[in-house]
Amino acid sequence: MARILSGIQPSGSLHIGNYLAMMKPMIALQEENELFCFIVNYHALTSLSDPDKLRKNTVDAVLDFLALGLDPEKSYFWIQSDLPEVQELTWILSCNTSLGLLERSHSYKDKVAKGITPNSGLYTYPILMAADILLFQAEKVPVGKDQKQHLEITRDIASSFNANFGETFTLPDAVIEENLAVIPGIDGQKMSKSYDNTICMFEDEKKMRKRIMKIKTDSLGIEEPKNPDTCTIFALYKLFASTEDIASLRATYQAGGMGYGDAKQLLFEQIRDYFKPFREKREQLASDTEYVHKIMKMGAEKTRERAVQTLSLVRKKVGLNYL
Ligand code: ADP
Ligand code: TRP
Repeated sequence: MARILSGIQPSGSLHIGNYLAMMKPMIALQEENELFCFIVNYHALTSLSDPDKLRKNTVDAVLDFLALGLDPEKSYFWIQSDLPEVQELTWILSCNTSLGLLERSHSYKDKVAKGITPNSGLYTYPILMAADILLFQAEKVPVGKDQKQHLEITRDIASSFNANFGETFTLPDAVIEENLAVIPGIDGQKMSKSYDNTICMFEDEKKMRKRIMKIKTDSLGIEEPKNPDTCTIFALYKLFASTEDIASLRATYQAGGMGYGDAKQLLFEQIRDYFKPFREKREQLASDTEYVHKIMKMGAEKTRERAVQTLSLVRKKVGLNYL
């Protein structure tokens, strides 16, 4: 039994990269652990300035998690902005974080290199993330490989706080599944909401098929043998198909005689069938907004009790409790 925590940004529609690397492992962990799972809409504000989109994406992410099996009774499931306590902790941690630590952030540097004009929220993003994690004394944080450095920054912030003010925070470990480290998008690069290369599990099926048909491949002809290990279609197929189906498609690739169009159709069918029961559940939930609202209110109330415990300890440690 461990305390496990992870969050996801509602900066766009959630996709199969998010599902495999974060949502699925989190949902599997809820049985045996204390699970904290949340939609990080404060973080999404660093890149999204359309209020309607932010609202819609947030509710969609909630529906996605519930449809995929997250149990809000068993776990702590909430929307980040429903617990403003995290902002107070962010400020306290900010006053104990050197600029040098933030200057080294790859994620910030990558975004700036891509031409994004950064706001100061993007720069201090790792401190808010550290506050998310430390507020609940999380022990394990399941994330994709791109978040590794953010976890290192969190540990640095926690260690220096503990050294200055006495043992306060648990040092969390990142949990990164190596074979899921980078799930490719339809262009072969990392699948990401920011790169318009995603396959979204709950997208309309016709649109999903169209998207899969756009996966980039080399230009080998139908009859030519193909290398499954360098092919994006195969890389994605492997993540959903059974061992026998994977072996069979591998053999077909190597023998030649099948075009990429047929391989894409097989991939589409795998993904469509895999998510079919979840899609039905999601449609049902989407039609009952009152229930979903109630669940999120309950989630925030239950989680706040835990947040307040850590925050009052931290206030004492730094001297904000003057009475
Ligand atoms: P995105 O890049 O689509 O905006 P987020 O940054 O919100 O995704 O990531 C949410 C979680 O999903 C993180 O733990 C992240 O590491 C993981 N993740 C996102 N995309 C991928 C991917 N293509 N491969 C592996 N993990 C991913
Ligand atoms: N930065 C994470 C991402 O983009 C999202 C996130 C915010 C998060 N707070 C977190 C992940 C706390 C794990 C724990 O994916």
